[in-house]
Amino acid sequence: MKKKRRSQRIALLLVIAILLSLFVAIAMVMTMSGCSSREIVGLPEDSGGKTVTSPAGMTGETEVSAIRSSPPSSSSPPTSTLNTPKPTLSKTSKTLRTTTAATSRQTESRSRASYGPPVMKAPGAVALTFDDGPGQYTGELLDALKEYGVKATFFVQGRFAEQYPGLIRRMHQERHGIGNHTYSHRFLSETDEATRRSQLARTSDAIERITGVRPRLMRPPGGYRNGAVFREAGRQGMAAVFWDIDTADWKYKDSQYVYHYLLNHTAAGKIILMHDTHKTTVDGFIRALPVLLDHGFTFVTVDELVELRPGEVYPLRWR
Ligand code: NI
Repeated sequence: MKKKRRSQRIALLLVIAILLSLFVAIAMVMTMSGCSSREIVGLPEDSGGKTVTSPAGMTGETEVSAIRSSPPSSSSPPTSTLNTPKPTLSKTSKTLRTTTAATSRQTESRSRASYGPPVMKAPGAVALTFDDGPGQYTGELLDALKEYGVKATFFVQGRFAEQYPGLIRRMHQERHGIGNHTYSHRFLSETDEATRRSQLARTSDAIERITGVRPRLMRPPGGYRNGAVFREAGRQGMAAVFWDIDTADWKYKDSQYVYHYLLNHTAAGKIILMHDTHKTTVDGFIRALPVLLDHGFTFVTVDELVELRPGEVYPLRWR
């Protein structure tokens, strides 16, 4: 009897042990598949759907690099790598493969052949760009540009194009570039599709009514952008143009600051961002312009600097 009871007890223990190990194995499998599926779901969102912005409005390069460095850290493996190095490593490579595949799929679907290296048409020249106008200081700016025979590009708001049609006409007649900066400075990645579409279309309509030409370039207000913004721009026949050098003129509103910034930072092949809606910008720029010309800089419109097709993004790092 004793023997029988002991063997029964052993059998029971064995069954419990088997059940326990089964349970542990199932739990492990569930945990691992749970992690990887979460990452696979999350990543395409991170790499494509998520809004990438330059937070403080139009600030430039530091925020951009911060934004660009964030996706890799969000997809990096969890910190507890010591106990289970192998699964973590394989998970990482799986994650990376997923990211690459998702990114290349998106790139392909956006525009199959349009994302080659940009064709620089005037590599040594500088493109001056003025956003948010036209406004009450734009006429004075146009006078100075005319005096020195310099061409710039204006990314205008549709509502102000309607308010100052004479200035838009003059920009066109004097062969400056005119780009679309939405109808009322809406952050395009933050709006719904219908708003995005109408903000761009109304502005292009206004520019076309005045000049007879539809703009082929647009600049998203505040630099707020995502794939949907680029696709809509492309559908409406425009490339998205950002900048290389952000003067942050809107922040400092100081003509001396603008003057020195331009003298210190103007560089060949670059696009410079300013806003003709500030008197301080127009004043500082007008003082800096003859000095920059003396230094040998040549100025062209964005159109003359680089060849861009609808749906493309320039400079490439903004994509
Ligand atoms: Ni703007």
